[in-house]
Amino acid sequence: MSETTLGTASPQPAGPAEPALGVPDPLDEAAVGNAVNAALAAFAAAGNLDQLKAARIAHTGEKSPLSLANREIGKLAKQDKAAAGKIIGPARGRLNQALAARTEELEAARDAQILVEEAVDVTAAPRRRRAGARHPLSTLQERVGDIFVGMGWEIAEGPELESEWFNFDALNFKPDHPAREMQDTFFVEPPQAHLLLRTHTSPVQVRSMLERDLPVYVLCPGKVFRTDELDATHTPVFHQFEGLAIDKGLSMADLRGTLEHFARQMFGAEASIRLRPNYFPFTEPSAELDIWHPGAKGGPQWIEWGGCGMVHPNVLRAAGIDPEVYSGFAFGMGIERTLMFRNEVSDMHDMIEGDVRFSEHFGMEI
Ligand code: PHE
Repeated sequence: MSETTLGTASPQPAGPAEPALGVPDPLDEAAVGNAVNAALAAFAAAGNLDQLKAARIAHTGEKSPLSLANREIGKLAKQDKAAAGKIIGPARGRLNQALAARTEELEAARDAQILVEEAVDVTAAPRRRRAGARHPLSTLQERVGDIFVGMGWEIAEGPELESEWFNFDALNFKPDHPAREMQDTFFVEPPQAHLLLRTHTSPVQVRSMLERDLPVYVLCPGKVFRTDELDATHTPVFHQFEGLAIDKGLSMADLRGTLEHFARQMFGAEASIRLRPNYFPFTEPSAELDIWHPGAKGGPQWIEWGGCGMVHPNVLRAAGIDPEVYSGFAFGMGIERTLMFRNEVSDMHDMIEGDVRFSEHFGMEI
């Protein structure tokens, strides 16, 4: 498309001398009045400050009919100038007044709306993210730890992947002891590494004796592993806590007294304990520990709780301690089992499935 074509096709622009469409004659009171009415109607129709701004520019801005009419006054004959001024001046004054009043109204409306929209209901219930819950096994384990720390004992830990020597040999298990068999123990390959998943927390006894200065008073909580099938009362991964005291002159009486105190802290003032002869390779004499549980589900009764005994002299020797000078006692219990009869959990599945509703039921204290 050439410029020539464009030029001939375009309409001729309006002559510059022509007044803009709708500009009232400044001497025509009726025409000025119409312009004022149009402006007032536009101000009234503006529903918000943005619309009012557009109406203001259209009706009082530089290119508005009344401003242009005002400009026309300059071109009038001297005697008409005053007359036109008396018409246009008050007309513009009215518009400014109306504009100010409408601005005030719309500002008030806007402020009121902001108050409604941005209002904060301070009484509304907050929407909280659910915080989850601590697992009762953790809470119980900490409670047990607290009781012994309260007696001045220390917490000791050992590895879950343990050497066969700490788990069995140092604890006086003979090489052909049935507990070493594959059906009980998770051995870890290669076999010549003699590594296994610890089957009890007792290896921490030996580690504690080797690592610490005498006397030793430690509680060792932790995870243990046995090749059991998961059912209502068994799980291949569970938790125990081990107690070990090595000092000069410790006897069965110290073991009894310690366990009695512990039992009362855990099960109430009416709880007591009973020891029945048993056998463990690493204690001599050894005993089965029963707890008199005053709050048991089926009424107060004796419940089998764990094993205990006086540390075998061979175990002391394995840890480089002279059994002629030092003696000690040890005990071990299952945390799952304790939770089962203490807090009436009848199915092991509930403890390991990880449904938070199970944990929430116990709260933060146990
Ligand atoms: N370790 C033993 C078990 O797992 C419990 C025990 C610990 C027995 C300490 C005596 C002394 O069954």
